[in-house]
Order: sequence, then C-alpha cells, then structure tokens
Amino acid sequence: MSADERKYDEKLPPRRRDAVPEPFILVIFGASGDLTRRKLIPAVYSLFRQGFGPEKFSVVGFARRPQTDAGFAEAMRRGIETFARAKTADEPKDLWARFAARLFYHRGEFHEPKDYQSLRERLEGMAKKDGVPGNYIFYLATQPDFFGPIAERLREAGLTRSNAQGSPWSRLIIEKPFGHDLASARELNRFLQSAFAEGQVFRIDHYLGKEAVQNILVFRFANSIFEPIWNQKYVDHVQITMSEEIGVEGRGPYYDKMGALRDMVQNHMMNLLSFVAMESPMDVSSRAVRDEKVKVLQSLRAIPRVCAVNGVVRAQYAAGTCRGKPVPGYRQEPGVAPGSLTETFVAFKANVDNWRWAGVPFYLRTGKRLPRRLTQISVHFKPVPQILFNADPEKQLPPNTLTLRIQPDEGIFLRFQQKVPGMAMDIQPFEMQFGYGAAFGKPPPEAYERLLLDAAFGDSTLFIRNDEVEAAWEYLDPIIEGCSGARGGQLPTYPAGTWGPKEADDLIRADGREWAAADAGPSQPSAGEPEGADY
Ligand code: BG6
Repeated sequence: MSADERKYDEKLPPRRRDAVPEPFILVIFGASGDLTRRKLIPAVYSLFRQGFGPEKFSVVGFARRPQTDAGFAEAMRRGIETFARAKTADEPKDLWARFAARLFYHRGEFHEPKDYQSLRERLEGMAKKDGVPGNYIFYLATQPDFFGPIAERLREAGLTRSNAQGSPWSRLIIEKPFGHDLASARELNRFLQSAFAEGQVFRIDHYLGKEAVQNILVFRFANSIFEPIWNQKYVDHVQITMSEEIGVEGRGPYYDKMGALRDMVQNHMMNLLSFVAMESPMDVSSRAVRDEKVKVLQSLRAIPRVCAVNGVVRAQYAAGTCRGKPVPGYRQEPGVAPGSLTETFVAFKANVDNWRWAGVPFYLRTGKRLPRRLTQISVHFKPVPQILFNADPEKQLPPNTLTLRIQPDEGIFLRFQQKVPGMAMDIQPFEMQFGYGAAFGKPPPEAYERLLLDAAFGDSTLFIRNDEVEAAWEYLDPIIEGCSGARGGQLPTYPAGTWGPKEADDLIRADGREWAAADAGPSQPSAGEPEGADY
C-alpha cells in the first residue's frame, strides 16, 4: 500500500455504544435486485428503528426499471415484512411512515452519464433541503460487470470527492465477487482506484459482520489463557467447516461460473482463516488488523497446479434427500449446464508457513446440500501423552477440542476429559458450552446492520482491503487453474443431504485424523434460525 492510501486507513477514536453517524444519503445501485430487499433495506430499517440512523438520512434506489418513490417504498416494505428481524406491522404506525418518507427512487442506466448528472442534482437538492452536508454512500448491489463503469460514471459526475473527515465525503461499498481471478481482481482494483481512493472503498464480506466472527478476535486477544497455547506447540490441527443445507437456490447461472472455491473459499473461508491464525495486531485500528490478516494470506504455502489436481477435493451434489424431501442434483438445477463440472463442495489442507503455525495443518471444507447448516472452526489440541489415564493403546483419550461456532447457535465449546462419578476410574469427554442465546438472551444483530453502520462511520476494519483480495487470489489462482486443468476428467459426486464425497474423508484420514463431528454444542437450529441466505 502506498503512503497516500495509508492515510485513509487511519485509526478512528473509539466509538460510543449509542453513537450515531453523520447524516448521509445511501444510494443503492441495483435497487430492484434481491440483495436490496432481502438484506440492505431490512438492515437500514433495523438501524433506523433502533435509533442508530442519523435523523437526516435518506436512501435512493437507483435502477433501470421505471418506478415511483412510493412504489419503491412499498416494494421495500414487503421486503422488510418478509426478511427483517422486526416487521413493520409490529411497530408503531408512524415509524414506518417516517422511514418510508426517507426512501426515494431514481431511474437510470448504469452506463449513462446523464443519469448520473441528474442523480447528482437530486442528491444536492436533498442535502440542501435537509440542511446537511452531502455525504454519500454508493452501494453497488449490481452484477460485478457494472462495478467499474459505475465508479467511472460517479467520478465523471463529480460524485467521488474524498473521505476526509469534516468535509462532505463519498464512500463506495461493493459486494463480492471481487474479480474471478488475480488478474481480474487487479484490474477491478485499478479501475476503482482511478475513481476513488482505497480508503473510500468498502469491500463487503458479510461474514465479517457476523457477531461470532468478530468475537474470534476478542476471544483470542481479550483473554490471557488462550493466546499462549494458540500455536504449533499445543495445537495439532485446525478445521474450518462451512456447510450449507441449501442448494444453489435459483442462482444457477451465477453459481455455475463460480463454484465453491470462488464463491466461499476466496472470501469467507480466507477471512475466517485469517482471524483464527493472525498475530495480535498492534491496536484495533483497521490498518493494524488488516495488516495482520494479509500477512496470514501471504504466509499460506502455495499449492502448485499439479498438486491441486490430486490434493484438493472437489465434488458436486447429485440428487438426494434433504429434510426428508427428495431434491434434484446440481446439474438438474435451473440455469446449470447439463454437463457442468463446477464444484459445489471443496475440501483441502492449507499450511500457514510461519513460526506460530509451522507443521499445523488447517483442513478446510465447504459445500452445498450437506446435512445441516453449520459454520465452525475447531481447534484440535495435541493428543494426551500415552501415560497415566491414557496408557491403554486400545482406548485412547480423545484430544481436547475448542470449537468456535459461527452459526447457527453461536457459541464456544471446549471438550475435555472428566471422571464419571462412581467407584471406577471411568473417563469420558464432556463439553463446556458458552452459547450466545443463553448468555445474552437475544439474537445477535444481522451482519449487514453492523457493516452498513461501520461504513457510515468510515470504519473499514471489517471490510476487505485491496491487498487482502489480491493475496487471497494469489493463493487460489493456481488451485483453481490446477483443478480446471483436470476438468476433462470426472468430478466426484455426493448425494444431496450427505457430508460430501468419500475423497474428503480420505484426505483427512491420510493424515490419521477425522473431520470433527458436527454435533458439538446444541445440535438443533434454534427457533427462527434461517436456513441460509439466497443472495
Ligand atoms: C454467499 C454465497 O456469499 O454466502 C452463497 O454467495 C452462500 O452461496 C452464502 O449461500 C452463505 O452465507 P450465510 O450467511 O448464509 O452463511
């Protein structure tokens, strides 16, 4: 990063719990899409009803289809009714009316300069009417092909300005995918940076907005007992599992171009891996935290193309049963090519080559149409020495495991040996559980609420920096290339509703280990837990 970019990555003063950002206008490009009504507007509404929104804020939906302000507001109300934590019907009537009065719609073509001129005039008029500085957040909830052109049009229309404190600012939020390989990610970064400074660009990975992901840093660095054992001396290996029960859910054409490596590993999994493996940052500023994350990615041992063919397990779901109902195979999903070789499951072993993690494998697996929705990191400690209570080679004690459950049933579970009460020396593993639900009595906020609020405050700690994106692609490019080289061959399949192909078990068993059982902690999804997001 250049010194110029760094000046936007500065340390912000600590934020009070009830702090409210400066007034701003959120402009959503792609406002008629799924993400807007499912996630963005429900999150903005939730912030508004909790009093986190500034008094003078507005949302402008920008999209191609003709629509009135009132029509847009009504479509958003339906989105909130279906997807928000709080429904408009449960709220005092005037709350929705006050919120709806802040929703506007601007019809425009993403490529058309004159539509950005009229947008600019409209935004200036709105800020003037409200008597507030024109601070803008541009949210690109569009197909990635439009990211570059929209940024360019915004620059031409004089809407990009700066991120400087105290003067009207503009920020840009973009959704993944950030490119489809290293070259395209670099090109996108160059494109964005020709319009916005890096500090104005907020790349969203919604996993970083999840409470239990943020808690990884607190758990590791706000306690004194875990950090000393968080290394190769005590840890045998780490497993990261991200399993989904859902299939591609109507996103066949998109997913078929992506596959699990691009859709889940390049972003969500790399972020979890960075948080669990990073060194302690110097402070909690976005620069310090992201510097440490990027070092983890840069320390990943490259998996050369030739090794990826055999060392990375990729597979595709075939027809099977989910929750007792028959479901189609991936190739039968709408929009998926009949002979598609896109993976819906991937498992592989990563190595972080630094002093802390030398010799500690990180086993990663993710897949769609697995038996349950589960994201967790389990840290497996070294085996108990074969003495004393563990002297019998036929009955070895299972090692201690610490599970960081990201979803559902967010929590932390520690497995350790206990004497079973009685006259004999019976020893069994038990689990000490910390569950968010039981501890705090309410579900954690939605990821998008936290991320939108952070962007409004200009805090980029939970967003992805350009060098993080590039480092993740640098690692994954040879893997993806190696695997696609093997595409002439067959892709293993697994029946929907099972834990993936046999090859994934072989991968970890070859090292004398097993995948962690998915039943640490409470095993049933809690009431109201969504089964997965379609966006
Ligand atoms: C998205 C992926 O980024 O994350 C989807 O594109 C996936 O394929 C989703 O289903 C998972 O998110 P969550 O929050 O439901 O675990």
